[in-house]
Amino acid sequence: MSRETEMHICLGSSCFSRGNKDVVIFIRDYLKKNHLEDKVIFKGGRCMGHCSNGPNLMINEVIKEGVTISKIEAILDQELVKFK
Ligand code: FES
Repeated sequence: MSRETEMHICLGSSCFSRGNKDVVIFIRDYLKKNHLEDKVIFKGGRCMGHCSNGPNLMINEVIKEGVTISKIEAILDQELVKFK
């Protein structure tokens, strides 16, 4: 089965200080719980240059800003609905 979605979360220091670690944990659990690990590539990435608006997550080359733990589930539900 081919992977169709790529997600890169910024691992830069500013996004780290804004809580990207919790978002990483949430995304990993979400992909596992929804059996999406073979459909979505999820990696850490370098600073995206939008530091003051982090944590930042790039999904298929589109940057989502302000991806906090309170927003990440709704973003994933919207972006990955095609796999459900
Ligand atoms: S540290 Fe994340 S965009 Fe710069």
